[in-house]
Amino acid sequence: MCGIVGYAGTSSRVVDHDALDVLIEGLRRLEYRGYDSAGVAVVADGAIHSRKKAGKLANLENEIAEAPLPKSMTGIGHTRWATHGGPSDGNAHPHLADGGKLAMIHNGIIENFAGIKAELVAEGATFLSETDTEVAAALLGKLYTTEAAGDLTLAMQLAVARLEGAFTLLAVHEDHPGVVVAARRNSPLVLGLGDGENFLGSDVSGFIDFTRRAVELGQDQIVTITPDTHTITDFQGNPAEGKEFTVDWDAASAEKGGFASFMEKEIYDQPAAVADTLLGRSDANGRLTLDELRISPEELAKISKIVVLACGTSAYAGSVAKYAIESWCRIPVEVELSHEFRYREPIVDENTLIVSISQSGETMDTLMAVRYAKEQGAKTLSICNTNGSTIPRESDAALYTHAGPEIAVASTKAFLAQITATYLLGLYLAQLRGNLFQGQIKDILADLGKIPAKIQDILDRGEEIKSVARKMAQVPSVLFLGRHVGYPVAMEGALKLKEIAYIHAEGFAAGELKHGPIALIEQDQPVFVVVPSPRGRDSLHSKVVSNIQEVRARGANTLVIAESGDEDVRAYAEFVFYVPETPTLLMPLLTTVPLQLFACELASAKGYDVDQPRNLAKSVTVE
Ligand code: AGP
Repeated sequence: MCGIVGYAGTSSRVVDHDALDVLIEGLRRLEYRGYDSAGVAVVADGAIHSRKKAGKLANLENEIAEAPLPKSMTGIGHTRWATHGGPSDGNAHPHLADGGKLAMIHNGIIENFAGIKAELVAEGATFLSETDTEVAAALLGKLYTTEAAGDLTLAMQLAVARLEGAFTLLAVHEDHPGVVVAARRNSPLVLGLGDGENFLGSDVSGFIDFTRRAVELGQDQIVTITPDTHTITDFQGNPAEGKEFTVDWDAASAEKGGFASFMEKEIYDQPAAVADTLLGRSDANGRLTLDELRISPEELAKISKIVVLACGTSAYAGSVAKYAIESWCRIPVEVELSHEFRYREPIVDENTLIVSISQSGETMDTLMAVRYAKEQGAKTLSICNTNGSTIPRESDAALYTHAGPEIAVASTKAFLAQITATYLLGLYLAQLRGNLFQGQIKDILADLGKIPAKIQDILDRGEEIKSVARKMAQVPSVLFLGRHVGYPVAMEGALKLKEIAYIHAEGFAAGELKHGPIALIEQDQPVFVVVPSPRGRDSLHSKVVSNIQEVRARGANTLVIAESGDEDVRAYAEFVFYVPETPTLLMPLLTTVPLQLFACELASAKGYDVDQPRNLAKSVTVE
C-alpha cells in the first residue's frame, strides 16, 4: 500500500546525489502504491529535517520549493495509503520521536499499537497524529535512549520484538548521518546496491534510476545500510542473508513513453506482455519446458485438485484458467478469493496444488492464504509479475509473467500475462499427465503464438471503441454479460469501469440474467455482451445471442464484443466490436482488450486520473 524509499550515500563518490533527489525520484515511481500523502526526512547538519503534505507527491514538492531542505546524503521518503487516521498533513509520514532527533516511516498495520500507546502515554509521551506509526516511532525513540544506549539497529531489534502485525519500518537518527535502519515483517522491502550508495525500496522501482543490483530480503529481517555497507540480521540480531538479483527491466519501461497515461501505455504493451510470457517456455516440437518450477514433475503428476487463490483482476485470471485447465487436464480447479479462503476451513492436502496469482506478489490476503495452505501440506505455486516479491519467494514454485512493470493501479497487461501463464501451466500439466497428445499441445501453443498480433490488430482499431466511450461519458451505469470464459471477462470489464471511471458497473453470467439481474434493464441501459465464437459450442453462442435479444427487448442499448465474421449479432446490437478468430479457451486474451480501452477512454473523457483512481492503491499489503 504505502511506498517506502531509503537512501544512504556519500559526497565523496564520483556522482554525488542529494538524498532529496533520490527520495523524490523513488517516490515518483512508488506513488502508484498510495497517494494520500507524501513526506521525506533527511539528516543534515546534525539534525533531522522533515517535510510532509497531504495529497499527491506534487503537493510535497511545492512544500519543499517553499521551504527548501539542506543538501543531505541520508534520508527516508514515504507515499501513503491511509489506514490509521485520515489523509491529513498530521498523519502523513515521517513521524518524529526522541525529541525530533529520530524520523520513521512505515508501511503496514501495527495491530497492538493501542496497548503500546497507552503505556507510552502513561510514561508521559504525547502524540500529534492518529497513526500507529507514530507509536512505533515513539517506542523506537524510547528504546534507543534507554536499553539500546544509542545503537539504532539494536533499538530496532528491541522495538520489533514488541510489535504485532505487518510492517516495514525505516528509521534515521540525527546521531547517525549515513545510516538507515529498516525492519520488515509481512510487508515488502527490497535493498538496492549502488557504488558508494545503498538504497531501500518497497520494490525495485524505488531505486531503478540508480541501480539494477537488488537484494531480496526475507521475512522478519532487519537491514542497516550505510553508503558502503549493508548488514542483514534476523529479529534476534543473528546474521542473515538476502538473495541478490539483477532487475531485468530498466527505468524506461516504467515511463509513459508518449501515452497520456500509464494505463493506456500498458494496454498497448499487451502484445509484448503476452509474447514475453510465452518466450522460451516451449521447444520447437511444442514441448513445454518450465524448468523454473521447483516442484518435481512426479509431484505435479500426482495432484488431484487445484485451488487458485487471488484477488481482484488476478482472481478473474484464475477464473479463466479454470475453464482451460479443467478442459485440458481434467483436474478439478476451484477459484477462491484469497481473503475468503482461510476463514472457512478449506479442504486441502498434499495432493492439492495451490496456484496463487498476484501481479505484485505482495497482496497480503493472498500471502496469508498461501501460508495457510502450506501449513495444511498443500504444494504452492505462485504466478507473479514481480521478481523479489514475497509470495513467489515463500511458494514452492514460481512461474513469472513477463509483463514488465505495471504502474497504473488498474491492472491490464498483467491480467493478460497471468492468463497466458495459466495456459502454460495447464498445458504443462496436460503434458506431464498425458491428458493431451503432444500434437494437440503444439497446436494450442501455435494458437497462443498468434495472439500478440491479434491483440495488436484490436489496438490498431482501438478508435472504434474509444469513440463510443467518449459518447458514453455521462452514463450512470453499465452492465456486462458473458458466458463460459466470457463471464470472467465481463466481470473484469465491469471492474475496470468501476475503479477508474467511478461508474456503477456489474458483470453477470449471461445465464443468470433471468434469475434477477434482468430487472435492472430499463430504457437505454448500456449492456456489454461478450459473445462466444459461433464456430465453438453452438448452443453457447446461440444462447448468448438470445440473451442479447432479451435485454434489447427491454430497452437496453447493446454493445457487443464478438468474433470476426459473426453476423448473427449485428441485428441485435447498437455497436459491435469484432475481435479476430481464435479458439474459444484463448478468447479472453482478445475480448478483454476492447473493454480495457473503453474504460480507459471513458474515464479520461470524464477528466479523471486513470493511473491513480481515488481510494485505491496498486499493492494491497494490508488485510
Ligand atoms: C485491478 O485493476 C485491481 N487494481 C486489483 O483488483 C488487483 O488486481 C488486486 O488487488 C490484486 O493485486 P495483485 O495481483 O497484485 O495481487
